[in-house]
Amino acid sequence: MLKIIVAHDKNHLIGNGSQIPWHIKEDFKHYKETTMGHILIMGTVTFESIGKPLPGRKTIVLNYDKDYDAQGCEVCTDYMELVNRYQNSEEVVYVCGGASIYKLFLPYCDELIISVIYGDYYGNIYFPEYEDLFEPYKEVEKEQFKIIYYHKKSN
Ligand SMILES: NC(=O)c1ccc[n+]([C@@H]2O[C@H](COP(=O)([O-])OP(=O)(O)OC[C@H]3O[C@@H](n4cnc5c(N)ncnc54)[C@H](OP(=O)(O)O)[C@@H]3O)[C@@H](O)[C@H]2O)c1
Repeated sequence: MLKIIVAHDKNHLIGNGSQIPWHIKEDFKHYKETTMGHILIMGTVTFESIGKPLPGRKTIVLNYDKDYDAQGCEVCTDYMELVNRYQNSEEVVYVCGGASIYKLFLPYCDELIISVIYGDYYGNIYFPEYEDLFEPYKEVEKEQFKIIYYHKKSN
């Protein structure tokens, strides 16, 4: 099963250059707790901005060059190969960005876990529209953000 995990502000902003515009400890904690022990899929810009594979989680990095050195992580050049491998798997696999990877995988994900960050931030990278395809089923309120869980709308 493919799930997206993302933090965006009220305008769907997720990034500024290669960086996340905010630094919110409680959201990092939520990200770590949610993804620990699972497989992560991410693009090269996101992987390089983290700087290393995240401990306790197998990471698959998308790159157009199959010989890209992803510090021991699996490198994938064909995202549909990952869709076919994981869309209907028992295993929960988290799609972790950035924007280009979210856009590619959004139609194949069953769930979105979205931290909606409060406040005003500057940046230039946005999460795609999803409200037509997904509906919320749970909200968890935090001090600086709220976590909204979405599942795919049934047709
Ligand atoms: N707020 C959040 O929750 C969150 C989470 C993650 C990331 N972000 C932010 O998102 C931004 C990065 O997003 P981005 O879109 O610029 O970069 P990205 O999605 O992280 O990485 C893009 C790179 O991935 C590779 N790639 C993309 N599509 C591919 C495909 N179909 N096949 C093979 N390789 C592919 C390419 O690498 P090569 O060109 O090197 O081959 C491409 O340049 C940053 O600002 C980051 O901080 C935010």
